Formats: sequence, C-alpha cells, structure tokens
Amino acid sequence: MNSPIPIILDVDTGIDDAFALLLAAKHPGLNLLAVSCVDGNCPLVNVVSNTLSVLETAGRMDVPVLIGANKPLASESNYALAVHGTDGLGNLNLSPKSMKPVDADASEFMKDLILKSAEPITLIAVAPLTNIALLFQKFPEVKGNIERLVIMGGSASLGNATALAEFNIWHDPEAAQIVFSSDVEITMYGLDVFYDVHLSAIDIRKLQESELLPARIAGDIGAFIANILGYPITLGDAGAVCAVIDPLGLKVERFPTAVITDKGAARGMTVVDRRPYRDTVENERALADSKDVDVALGVDGARYSKLWLETILNH
Ligand code: BDR
Ligand code: CA
Repeated sequence: MNSPIPIILDVDTGIDDAFALLLAAKHPGLNLLAVSCVDGNCPLVNVVSNTLSVLETAGRMDVPVLIGANKPLASESNYALAVHGTDGLGNLNLSPKSMKPVDADASEFMKDLILKSAEPITLIAVAPLTNIALLFQKFPEVKGNIERLVIMGGSASLGNATALAEFNIWHDPEAAQIVFSSDVEITMYGLDVFYDVHLSAIDIRKLQESELLPARIAGDIGAFIANILGYPITLGDAGAVCAVIDPLGLKVERFPTAVITDKGAARGMTVVDRRPYRDTVENERALADSKDVDVALGVDGARYSKLWLETILNH
C-alpha cells in the first residue's frame, strides 16, 4: 500500500470547507500535516473557531491549526454569511472545547513543515489565496518541495460572486495572481466542476442519523444549506480533496490561465484560454502573465460523493 499523501489544507471554514476538513482529517490515504485559516467566507476569528471545532469533533486534536491572514492583500473583505450562516458554520454555534490554534506565524510554520518534509507536499487551498501568496512571497524556497497546489477557485465559464468571478479568486485577486504566476504546478478545481458533486436529502438523513458525531455535524450543516438552496446540495470544497485522493475521477485539460486584478466588472475573473488553436503570434497567449494550469472540466460526481460519504460514515 502507498504511504499517505502529505497535505496542508488552507480553509475559510465555511460549510463546504467543513466537508473538506472532515475528509482530509479522516481519509487514510492522506496525512494532514496542518490546516491554515484565512479570512473569506466569514471573519478570520470565526474561521479559526469553526476549524478547531470541526477537527476536535473529528478527534484530530493533533493537527496544527494556523492563524493566517485576516484580510485580503489589497481589497476589503466580503463575507458570504448569507450562505454559510452568521457564525460561518450553519448557525450551529459550535465552539472548540479545548483545542487551541498554534501560537506561531502561519507562513513560517508552513515553510518549516514543507522544507523538512522528506516527500514533496501537496497544498490544497479551498479559500481565498492570501495565505498561499504570502507563503510564496516570504519563502519562495518552499516551491521546490511542493508536489502540486490544488485550488478550489476560478472558473473557465461563469462566476458566482460576480457574473465573471468565482468567490475565492474575487475575494483576493492580487493574491490569486501571485499564486497563478508562480512556477508551482496547479490544478484548478473551479466552478466548472464545483457544483457537480452532490449530497441528496437521503444522504443528509443518513448523516444526521449516524452514530458518529462528525457525521451528524456534517448532516446538520448540510441540512442548514439545503434549507437555503434546496436539494441536492453540493459537496463543494470537499471535491478538491477528493481530487487528491482519487485524481482519476477528474477530467482536466491544460490551458494558459490568468487572473484579472483590474477594478471593474471582470475583477477576480480567471481567463482560461480554451481556444483549440491560436492563429496569430500576438494571439499565442491572450495575456502575458498567463500560466499553464490543469483546469478541471469534468468530474465523476457519483464517484466523489461515494468516496466522501463512505469516509465520513465509516471512520
Ligand atoms: C467557494 O466560495 C466559498 O463560499 C466556498 O467555501 C468555496 O470555497 C465557492 O466559490
Ligand atoms: Ca471555502
């Protein structure tokens, strides 16, 4: 059997971040080295508290939780409380009983973990990219020991925060541009697949009736969002974790991709150049700062929801 894949997960917990956290905490194929928190779906203080609560519930008090950036690099925070609840986690009012965040600088802690790892680390970022941008800026040497960065963010088609921009990129486009123009291999698990991995009303009931506390919590936060958006609900961020465990469930294509940081209607958009041919030299690359990214364009939704459910209901 292969040894578990070493990962660091960056979150803005958040309902679907909680689904991602539970999978990363429970799946035997992953070695969760740390979780870094960033301002995004809700203020950083809630993100940290929600993250600790979820990990504590999952019995993973051993995982270091890092307090990252409390605001985007150059814009104002824009929270998504209408969807995630005023506490960011379905208004369950969970709070950690005894688990505490690590008292150290998040970038420095991540840098040490990455540099001392015998095996290259996979970073999974399911939140605005502020923490990852700061890490790459402050400690560029870490890039040499990163296997891949899997991002939940961006879109090759429509946006959700705006007509053109996906929430995580739109929340901090300057950070996203730093990350997208780095020389780290990127898989973009964006909106083209994000909504295609589902939990049904029956799945949510099974979770709520489970003997396992983490499964019941997942069921309750799932029921919260179903009340707002209806069934089926999306597994969202957890799909990006599934993509690391089971990459064959994802169909990716490599395209030059750039992030728009200009003020205006396209701010936060990921421009994915999907043209099958580029007919003039000037047109070869739509934008000078674009980077070749593995863009997820299809997902086996049933395979990923089964992977997630089996992990949460059996561990
Ligand atoms: C992303 O935005 C957040 O609301 C979710 O947690 C997810 O990471 C989807 O656009
Ligand atoms: Ca998120």
